[in-house]
This record gives sequence, structure tokens and C-alpha cells, in this order.
Amino acid sequence: MEVTRERAWETLTKYTKGEALRRHALAVEAAVGGYARERGEDEELWRAVALLHDFDYEMHPTLDRHPQDGAPILREEGWPEPVVEAVLSHAEHLSLPRDTPLKKTLFACDELAGFVHACGLVRPDGIETLEPRSVKKKLKQPSFASGVSRDDVRNGAEELGIDLDEHIANVIRFMRPVAGELGLRTEAAPA
Ligand SMILES: [Fe+2]
Ligand SMILES: [Fe+2]
Repeated sequence: MEVTRERAWETLTKYTKGEALRRHALAVEAAVGGYARERGEDEELWRAVALLHDFDYEMHPTLDRHPQDGAPILREEGWPEPVVEAVLSHAEHLSLPRDTPLKKTLFACDELAGFVHACGLVRPDGIETLEPRSVKKKLKQPSFASGVSRDDVRNGAEELGIDLDEHIANVIRFMRPVAGELGLRTEAAPA
């Protein structure tokens, strides 16, 4: 089977009906895809993996099932082993090696894209004027987007070998073009 983001979207939307989880997939896709493009990697593969990484979460919302019980479904759907392996690697509790640039990038973007998304949802212009320093400020407020693991955000950037400020700036920049699809406002509300 040819690995395309279009096919990944089909698999994702077959198993994921909720808008929030679909938007999370799109946010992570934008971030991971942005890195693929800028680093000359296989953008189609990277986007597909990013879209699929939580495809089974609606069915398997607990860590004793997600994402491991999703893997056989991906194989049934015809996804090749490198895709399945990369999807599985994002789960900290499985302790699988993140030994490729794709796996490192997926892990580094997963929680951070979710966090940037959350920052944008409480701003009048979404992420249009969002800056890394205000994201970092919010990271220090434990009650804000408390589901996002701050350790994963920090460790992800470190494993990727990138300064956290630069990583945040990249993720914001990569997400901006799809802000509308993410349900974020793209213009400041009139005063
Ligand atoms: Fe996940
Ligand atoms: Fe995720």
C-alpha cells in the first residue's frame, strides 16, 4: 500500500468520529509535517504517521490498550510495519526506542502541539500572534491544560536536540496555516 496522508486521513476518520481528536491529529500532522518539509524528510510518510498516532484513542482511551491494541488494526488496514512501529513509539509507557528522526519528531510534537492548541483556544486571535514566551509562561501554570505532560514537552525537545524556545516557535509557525481547521480564530475579534 502506498503511504499517503490522504489514506491516513481515511483510516483516522473511520475510527475517530470526535472533532477534538481529529483536530489533535491535524495539529500534530502540521507540526511533524513542517519538520519533514524543512529537513528534507519523507513528508508524506511523516504526515501519515502523525495523523494515525492516536487513531485508536476513541476506541481505546486507556493506556492498557492505547496505542498497542491499535497496531493490529493498522496492519489489517494495510499499513506497513515502519508506520505501525512509529505510531507505537509515541507511547511512553511502552518504552520503545525512539531511534529515528520521525519517532523523535512525533514525540516532540505530540504534547506540544496539543499545548499550543490549548493556548490558541483562549486567545482572541488564536495562534496568529502567539509567542513562545507566552507558551512557556503557561507551561509553568500547572492548572492550564493540565493533561499535557510538561516532562514530555521538555524531554521531547531534548531528544530532538532542539532548544525548547525554538521548538515552540517552529510548532506555532507550522500550525498557523491550518489554524482554521483546528477551530482557532484567525483574526482578532472586532473591538
Ligand atoms: Fe497517544
Ligand atoms: Fe497525541
